Amino acid sequence: MLGRSAFVIVANRLPVDRVGEDMWRRSPGGLVTAIAPVLQRREGAWIGWHGAPDESLEPFEHDGMQLVPVPLSESEVELYYEGFSNATLWPLYHDVVAAPTYSRVTWEAYRTVNERFAEAAAEEAAENAVVWIQDYQLQLVPAMLRKLRPDLRIGFFLHIPFPPVELFSQLPWRREIVEGLLGADMVGFQRPGGASNFIRLCRRLLGLQHHKHEIHVGDRVVRAGAFPISVDFGELDSLVREPHIISRAREIRAELGDPECLLLGVDRLDYTKGIGQRLKAFGELLSEGAIKPGEAAFVQIATPSRERVEEYMRLRDSIELQVGRINGEQGELGQQPVQYLHQSYGRDELAALYLAADVMVVTPLRDGMNLVAKEYIACRHDLRGALVLSEFAGAADELRQAFMVNPYDVDGLKRAMLTAMRATPHDLSRRMRSLRRRVSTYDVDRWAKEFLTSLESSGSHVSQMTQI
Ligand code: ADP
Ligand code: G6P
Repeated sequence: MLGRSAFVIVANRLPVDRVGEDMWRRSPGGLVTAIAPVLQRREGAWIGWHGAPDESLEPFEHDGMQLVPVPLSESEVELYYEGFSNATLWPLYHDVVAAPTYSRVTWEAYRTVNERFAEAAAEEAAENAVVWIQDYQLQLVPAMLRKLRPDLRIGFFLHIPFPPVELFSQLPWRREIVEGLLGADMVGFQRPGGASNFIRLCRRLLGLQHHKHEIHVGDRVVRAGAFPISVDFGELDSLVREPHIISRAREIRAELGDPECLLLGVDRLDYTKGIGQRLKAFGELLSEGAIKPGEAAFVQIATPSRERVEEYMRLRDSIELQVGRINGEQGELGQQPVQYLHQSYGRDELAALYLAADVMVVTPLRDGMNLVAKEYIACRHDLRGALVLSEFAGAADELRQAFMVNPYDVDGLKRAMLTAMRATPHDLSRRMRSLRRRVSTYDVDRWAKEFLTSLESSGSHVSQMTQI
């Protein structure tokens, strides 16, 4: 029997995590930030894991979205999610900034769980439905789903970088992953470089021919393209104009002792985000006297993430040690230069923080896009505030007016942070106006529309194409 949804999102996570009987919390990360408004504006269903192990739940409605939970056992959470997804694929796709582990046991779990997601999607999708599969946790789903339901139009979007062939080739299951992705009609990447890495890989690994962005797979054509993801600009722009956000932003500055300059970092606590590098730069600026005590405060908000994965535990220890050192050496009684909060915040508090911050410091060593950078811009209708941005974030392609940095270059980072702190209001407003023009034009609606329009016109067979 065919399902009832004409539009289906498939992602590892649902937009909410189950944290208790009838208690839900927004799931972390940029994927949920971007996809939730897309589904809220369309009729459809979202298939994903609800964040708790060993629990089967019935489909339910939440915040205007139809959610279909997929269960994961405790051991699948360990092997498929923490293991293959986050100890193998995540570091491999982020330029091996941490060493990936390769394990046949976690690979098997990845395959099993991908099969379960494919079956759930096959069950939910109506005839000829559009199914949009998200991210690195589910790269085998497109081919598995096509086998079960050849009538569907299948899109896949990778939220993280797609690595160069030389790195990807380390993966013992490289062929299976590429064949999995090629089950889609359209494979989307954040940057043009990701799309061309993928096309090159298809040629090198599988000997597939391509014409521009169209890859020939038997009698099918699979398209690969770049679609830089974005934020709900309008929603944030109006949120920060509300009086309670404006007064909370003022209050935050007062609580911090009204520093001349407030620097802010907002990230999942992840080793790709370059949190250590930015703290090191700030610490050195203080110890060298380039910044006077009390002149600047650094607030680092770090959402807990993947806490049972070894590299994440190590990172947490090292960041907390670093914060302790800086505050111990540079602080005074009642005044600590770095405020570190290992917590998750609601949208309102984050918006108030963005509005309060003079300098937003976004320094990933590698990042698919980085929505925090775009959220900051969406919140600064006052045309104040400076964005320090790593050239290794996908967002760097679009946000050329930011203060660009190479986060590995500590001296360069220090210079950029100081320049951003000391920039004139005229320079800041000129930059921010141009940044806002970009993000307001290419918002998340435009991103989804461009992907889905392209998906609708794809999927033709080679024989049909030659007739055109
Ligand atoms: P990633 O997807 O790798 O986490 P992004 O910057 O693309 O990175 O997206 C992060 C998302 O998570 C943003 O929407 C941001 O607002 C949100 N976020 C980050 N830190 C926090 C926090 N401490 N509390 C609540 N939301 C957060
Ligand atoms: C990034 C990934 C998402 C993931 C999110 C949060 O944005 O691209 O797929 O959902 O991080 O990570 P988590 O492991 O908590 O789902």
